[in-house]
Amino acid sequence: GADEVRVLTDLAERFARSAGDLIRANRPDRVQVAATKSSEVDPVTAMDLASEAHLRELIARHRPDDGVLGEEDGWQPGTSGLTWVLDPIDGTVNYLYGVPAYAVSVGVVAGEPDPERWTVVAGCVHAVVDGTTYTAGRGLGAFRDGAPIAVNPARPLATSLVGTGFGYREERRRVQGRVLAALLPQVRDIRRIGSAALDLCRVAEGTLDAHYERGLNPWDLAAGEIIAREAGAQVTGLRGRAASTDMSVVAPPETAAVLAALLADLGADTDD
Ligand code: IPD
Repeated sequence: GADEVRVLTDLAERFARSAGDLIRANRPDRVQVAATKSSEVDPVTAMDLASEAHLRELIARHRPDDGVLGEEDGWQPGTSGLTWVLDPIDGTVNYLYGVPAYAVSVGVVAGEPDPERWTVVAGCVHAVVDGTTYTAGRGLGAFRDGAPIAVNPARPLATSLVGTGFGYREERRRVQGRVLAALLPQVRDIRRIGSAALDLCRVAEGTLDAHYERGLNPWDLAAGEIIAREAGAQVTGLRGRAASTDMSVVAPPETAAVLAALLADLGADTDD
């Protein structure tokens, strides 16, 4: 019910803010890469690991029956049917370079922790550097620092500001570059902010008109999805599919339909 959604939303915010405090208190002048993942440009820092460990401790203490899926430490199933989906630092490359667009993303989903099948119940995206905090609970609306937010009225694509992002692997980037080259002349402009979670919050508050990306992971999407939905966005895939790790399109409904159709024509959900 609404009471449980409110409890989960408040906890998501508490956990995300607490991880934000940890990251702010400990960012060294020069961040080092601790390891790389899918390619040599896909970094993990000690702070990604510390932030996720901190979030997992908080969840174990307050919600011992829930599952946890995190970027750095995988899936630990629970017994309640709910899973916390965590990105301890979304925008790790920005964190590494000191570009201020990175965030802690904490979502709670019902059902399988897979974007094509889950229902996101609550979420919080906490921008670490300026502290801006976006929250949403299913049926309760979307908020920035406690004040309600809403998407822009739908605009034609030609005057829409569109956010996107790129994967870390070369083959994927070749397709993404080709799609971007075709799209760029048809939109107001493109933004590559470097944190998908913040991109989705930007659509929710109207500082972007739309976002699309191929290859997002569940933890990039969970909290941002409910924040965007509750602010009036449609969150969808291409060709009638739900949003998935293959492709997500997030925008006011009319814009989402036009953008999804164009991306389908461009084969944006295929690999070369
Ligand atoms: C990345 C960011 C980026 C997006 C990538 C993600 P990470 O997450 O959200 O904006 O384009 O696809 O992997 O690696 O910084 O947590």
